[in-house]
Amino acid sequence: MTDAPHTHLDDQVAYVAAVQTALDATTAYYGAGDSSLDDDAYDRLVRGIEAYERAHPDQVLPDSPTGKVAGGAVEGDVPHTVPMLSLDNVFSAPDLTKWIAGLERRLARPVTAWSVEPKLDGLAIAARYRDGRLVQLVTRGDGTQGEDVTRATGTIVGLPDTLTEPVTIEIRGEVLMTNAQFEAACEKRLAHDGTTFANARNAAAGTLRAKDRKYVCELTFFGYSAMPLPANDPSGLAEQLRTLPHSQIMDLVAKLGVATTAGTTVAGIVAGTAEEIQARIEQIATLRSELPFAIDGIVIKADLATDQAEAGFGSRVPRWAIAYKLPATEKITKLKAVTWAVGRTGIIAPRAELEPVEIDGSTITFATLHNPSDITRRDLKIGDHVTVYKAGDVIPRVQAPVAHLRTGDEQDIVFPTACPNCRGEIDTSQERWRCLRGRACRAITSITYATGRDQLDIEGMGETRVVQLLNAGYIADFGDLFTLTREQLLSLDRMGETNTDKLLAAIEAAKSQPLSRVFAALGVRGTGRAMSRRIARHFGTMEAILAADAEAIQAVEGMGIEKATLMLAELTELRPLIAKLIAAGVNMTEPGATTATDGQSQSDTPAAELPLTGKSVVATGSMTGRLEALTRNQVNELIERAGGRSSSSVSARTALLVAGDNAGSKRAKAESLGVPIVTPEEFADLVSDFLL
Ligand code: IVH
Repeated sequence: MTDAPHTHLDDQVAYVAAVQTALDATTAYYGAGDSSLDDDAYDRLVRGIEAYERAHPDQVLPDSPTGKVAGGAVEGDVPHTVPMLSLDNVFSAPDLTKWIAGLERRLARPVTAWSVEPKLDGLAIAARYRDGRLVQLVTRGDGTQGEDVTRATGTIVGLPDTLTEPVTIEIRGEVLMTNAQFEAACEKRLAHDGTTFANARNAAAGTLRAKDRKYVCELTFFGYSAMPLPANDPSGLAEQLRTLPHSQIMDLVAKLGVATTAGTTVAGIVAGTAEEIQARIEQIATLRSELPFAIDGIVIKADLATDQAEAGFGSRVPRWAIAYKLPATEKITKLKAVTWAVGRTGIIAPRAELEPVEIDGSTITFATLHNPSDITRRDLKIGDHVTVYKAGDVIPRVQAPVAHLRTGDEQDIVFPTACPNCRGEIDTSQERWRCLRGRACRAITSITYATGRDQLDIEGMGETRVVQLLNAGYIADFGDLFTLTREQLLSLDRMGETNTDKLLAAIEAAKSQPLSRVFAALGVRGTGRAMSRRIARHFGTMEAILAADAEAIQAVEGMGIEKATLMLAELTELRPLIAKLIAAGVNMTEPGATTATDGQSQSDTPAAELPLTGKSVVATGSMTGRLEALTRNQVNELIERAGGRSSSSVSARTALLVAGDNAGSKRAKAESLGVPIVTPEEFADLVSDFLL
């Protein structure tokens, strides 16, 4: 659409260069599956070319990518029965409204049924079935003829060798790699030649067209259209495919045993009005970040065969369908530097510093790089162009270098040889490197964390005080806080009698914090505040926790084998500190839970009587009224005291959303999923017996 942002081309020289850039990009995109332009940049460029061509129709180059399917880049030798077309794009709700109005004007009547479906981000493919058997797979190619990729048969989930009925039909749809398939493919390729794929789409493209690969990677197919193939047709299928609404054709495809989006959370639906279309667009956009595969928009199609037939086709797109593009989640930018930070538990993590790039409305300057072996595996270098991924609330991450954009000036990433925090030795035996001092390396951070408001809540024990105590040699970990003497505290700078007494009282009070908070204070890797509460409620006492083996730990909700094993190792390391706490008289029990003898925790009040038993509750936004003074952690504690399970993300399993002021995207998501929403005050009424 013309009002979308585009690259401005000043003169004919800029125009010619832009056409060349676009051609190079499409050749790479539809060929080997890697492009030097990300989707947004490509769209902007083509819109710029279109704008220039409108103003200078006499200068239009014959190989301009405008008005061509796939930018005119690909060839193949299998003719398509019906051209495989592309879709026009809109980028906003007003653009969509305009497009709908345009179509209804052309038809001279309102369109009353729309199919609204996800735009799957993979490659278009036509699957030809004869008498129920898959006989040929053809890529889109240039739209009129494509490449035969029948050899991929049997490796594509959702595209069976035989249909449930012996019919002759061509089913078109998108081939892609799910996130899990992509991970598996990267591992295989890594083992094979030490490289990985830049992203799932490239991996799917490369895999589909690969001829003599020594390893097999699995793909996934979702059908989005079907049409007759020449055949004798006693069942009248061809007639059905010509006359049924698109939505019913999709039902038929699913019945034949071919995957459609019907089984996913973003299944195609039929909408009757523009409002319904918009509502579904918003739902799909919200669900996007949690999908196991990539989508890059929403496709809106006139559902009725009569509407489609009358609207007809433009030169390269149908007039009865449009793609509503969602913001790109992946961009290409430059890796400027890698810095190494030491976490609370001594983990040394690499962080990528990037040339700022905007993804989905936020400017990204930093991204995670996982760990050193990941850097080596991906062969990343400083100065590389890299693909950066960010969706929804996820932390941005660097995916892979764009190898063909290398200039030779790239520099190796220097790995630390000593701990960047304390200059001590590094343990490099695991994938994630760690300072040999572990927690001690980060004593300041870990002690300050332990005394924080959501853990032991010792007022007056902030970072400055902790540093003073460490420097004086009075403490080495937070267990030593409980044996501090009045004299020791008085000897510190700016510590008078009143402050000292207040601090001693706060330390004394911290001894009666519930086990959940004491456990959280330990900073066990992989267990944050919510998990600490679950562990404390499950086991009831520290004794029971320490007696548990990996299997018993896995009985705690959300604990997999990896986390459980890690927790065991951590607890072994933390035993001296725990002993110190016990000796100092710190509480080691969780109120409301009794020791698990059979591996199951029991509650004082029978679980069924609690108002939130079995319910997953999410709190979001700023709390007001009686909940105003509570931290998010305290609200979560309240949810759990009332028998519920606190969670930070809304899903179909969420039973209730407590939405405070400025609740934002979680509220929108709850609305789209039909999750009940209450205000903080309504929630306070519901759990009033459990307010402290
Ligand atoms: S319908 C004549 N439906 O998007 C109608 N296409 O940018 C043609 N795509 O070439 C396509 N999801 O590869 C349709 N639900 C969907 C789709 C979809 C993804 C792809 C398809 C198409 C491209 C156009």
